[in-house]
Amino acid sequence: YRRLRVALLGAGAVGSQVASLLRQHADELADRAGARLELIGIAVRDVDAPRDVDLPRELLTTDAESLIVGADIVIELMGGIEPARSHLLTAINSGADVVTANKALLATHGPEIFDAADQVGAEVYYEAAAAGAIPIIRPLRDSLAGDRVQRIMGIVNGTTNYILDRMDTEGAEFADVLADAQRLGYAEADPTADVEGYDAAQKAAILASLAFHTTVPLESVHREGITTIDKSMMDAARHAGYVIKLLAVCERLNGGADESISVRVYPALVDRAHPLASVHGANNAVFVQAEAAGNLMFYGAGAGGVQTASAVLGDVVSAARRHIAGGVGVGESTLANLPIVPIGRV
Ligand code: NDP
Ligand code: HSE
Repeated sequence: YRRLRVALLGAGAVGSQVASLLRQHADELADRAGARLELIGIAVRDVDAPRDVDLPRELLTTDAESLIVGADIVIELMGGIEPARSHLLTAINSGADVVTANKALLATHGPEIFDAADQVGAEVYYEAAAAGAIPIIRPLRDSLAGDRVQRIMGIVNGTTNYILDRMDTEGAEFADVLADAQRLGYAEADPTADVEGYDAAQKAAILASLAFHTTVPLESVHREGITTIDKSMMDAARHAGYVIKLLAVCERLNGGADESISVRVYPALVDRAHPLASVHGANNAVFVQAEAAGNLMFYGAGAGGVQTASAVLGDVVSAARRHIAGGVGVGESTLANLPIVPIGRV
C-alpha cells in the first residue's frame, strides 16, 4: 500500500482515542482506505500532560505548524476557534484534506474554510461535528440531496441530555452530574458551551445549513440553555407526564415565496410516550422529516471520546480513499481491493 501521512492536532478525550485506534487497527484501516495511514505526529499544548491512553512520547509535539506542512491528511481535534482555524487553513493551503469535529469553528467560520478548500480542490470532512458517533452529516448532505427536508428535531448535546436524564431518573443535583459529564469526556473544554446551549446551537446551524441548502448564521439561531432547570421543575414535568429535554428544532416555515427557516434550541417538555423521551444518558437522537422519504430517525452516542473517534476515523478513511483516487470521488472502487474473507455460519 501507498503511505499517507496523517497529522493529528489534539490528544484530549477524542484525539487520544483516534491516535489509539489508528495504531490498533492499522492493518484493517489500510485495507479499507487503500493506503497505510501513518501517524506522523500529534500536536498538543503540553507534551508531559497525563493522557487517557498511552501515546508514544516521540509523536507528541507543541509545534503544530511544522507537523501540518508535509501531511496528506490533517485531523483537527483541538477545539475552539484559534489556533484551530489557522491550522486548518494552513493544512488546506499546503494540499492536505482535513477532518475536524469542531462545530464551534464550522458554525462561525465554515464558509471561510469551505471556500479555502474549494479554491485548492481540498475536502473538509466533519461527520463528528454534530451528534458524536451518529452518521448525520452525510445523510443530510448526500443521501437526502434529492429530497426536500421540512423539519429536523433532535437532541444534539450529550452533556445536557446526560445531566437532565440523571436529574430526572435519580433526582441528582445539576452541579454533581455536570462534574461527572466532564470526567467522562462528554463536556466541552468550557462546559458553559454545553449547559447554555451554545454547542447545540452550533450543531443546529450546521444541520440546518445542510438540510436546507443554505448558510444558517449562528446569530440567527434562537438559544436557551438548561441552567435554569431545577429539581422542582423536573418533578413538576414528571407528574404531568413529561420529561424536560434540550431540543434543537430546525424547520421551514410558510412555504412558497414567503418561505423562511427557523432554528431554535430550548429546553422543551417532551411527552413521555414520545421516542425522544427515551433518549437516555449521553445519547442523541435526530428526527428528520422529508417530503418524499417521510420520517427518519438517527440515534446513538452523541458524545464521548471513543464513540466520536469512530466518526472521525470514518472521515479519515474517506479522505484517504479520495487521496488515492487522485482527488476525484470518494473512492468506493477501493471496495474492489478488499480481500475476500470466508464468512462462517451465523
Ligand atoms: P479536549 O479538551 O479533551 O482536548 C483538546 C486537545 O487539544 C488537548 O490534547 C490539548 O492539548 C490540545 N490543544 C488545545 N489547544 C491547543 C493549542 N493551542 N495547541 C496545541 N494543542 C492544543 O477536547 P475533546 O477531545 O473533548 O474535543 C476535541 C474536539 O472534538 C472539539 O472541537 C469538540 O467540540 C469536538 N467533539 C468532542 C466530543 C466529545 O465527546 N468530547 C464529541 C464530538 C465533538 P493538551 O492535552 O496538551 O492540553
Ligand atoms: N460536548 C458535546 C456534547 C460533545 O456533550 O454533546 C459532542 O459534540
